[in-house]
Amino acid sequence: MIESFDAARLQRLYPAPAEPAALTGLYLRHALHRRSQPCVYANFIASLDGRVALADRQGALARMPSAILNPRDWQLYQELVAQADVVLVGAGYLNYRSRQTQGVVTLLDSARDGSLRAWRAQEGLSPEPALAVVSRELAISEELVRAVQSQPLYIVTSRRAPAARINALERAGAQVLFAGDTRDVAGAILIEALRAANFMRICSVAGPRVLHLLLKDDCLDRLYLTTGLRLLGGCTYATLVEGSLLPGAPAFNLEALYFDSPVSESAGQLFGVYTRERH
Ligand SMILES: NC(=O)c1ccc[n+]([C@@H]2O[C@H](COP(=O)([O-])OP(=O)(O)OC[C@H]3O[C@@H](n4cnc5c(N)ncnc54)[C@H](OP(=O)(O)O)[C@@H]3O)[C@@H](O)[C@H]2O)c1
Repeated sequence: MIESFDAARLQRLYPAPAEPAALTGLYLRHALHRRSQPCVYANFIASLDGRVALADRQGALARMPSAILNPRDWQLYQELVAQADVVLVGAGYLNYRSRQTQGVVTLLDSARDGSLRAWRAQEGLSPEPALAVVSRELAISEELVRAVQSQPLYIVTSRRAPAARINALERAGAQVLFAGDTRDVAGAILIEALRAANFMRICSVAGPRVLHLLLKDDCLDRLYLTTGLRLLGGCTYATLVEGSLLPGAPAFNLEALYFDSPVSESAGQLFGVYTRERH
């Protein structure tokens, strides 16, 4: 566990009464992996003005807002990943991780996140959760598929996806799950396909369009949202959810709220946990 994470920086604000909390293990204590019910949860970090991605030099919404990224949020993100049976991503994320980890794609990097691998072993889980990429285009190289070594890689797509691409990805080692026959995979069918593959705890770290498809079919049980207390501005950006108006404007209950106070150059941040209200 990481010793330098000063517990005195973090306060639980809700549920009351406010009290100090330790950062390391904060989300592991939610014990998502022990839930008897299937659970779909998502994680995001956003700025105070709601930015989750900014435009790169070419104008594509491909850049994480680096001004709010920090190792304390990363620790909590890793704790959420560690509790999953499968982690849902977009193809862009696979590319990003392969750049970060010099080619081999892992979710829990063994040098840095060794304690979370050990934690999974103690809990009777495999060293890493499986990875599932949801995709229409299947613009995923075979090399990238081969770079995923320490966990099974699933690709979830439509039955209408090009057979030649599917065959090539399967030959490279991916397992393809079909989720319906419309080009746009629907949230409910996506989750059904993952459950049929025996995944009960599904952690989405994909972006705003995947969050939209999960919300549209009311598939999301919990949202973990870090708000970095900085304003970023900018004219081209993505917010948490991108897509059409959501039917019924899904309501969420506040489950927990933590304040991580600023230290020298690091701005403060709020760690919010929101549970879908279902009647
Ligand atoms: N701040 C944060 O916490 C956070 C979290 C996640 C992502 N981001 C950022 O947000 C930006 C956008 O991320 P992103 O493009 O990876 O996420 P995204 O907007 O959720 O889309 C990811 C991919 O999912 C596939 N997809 C989406 N809807 C689909 C559907 N109905 N059926 C089948 N496939 C579907 C598409 O893949 P194909 O193109 O392969 O068809 C799409 O490119 C990036 O800059 C990323 O860094 C920020």
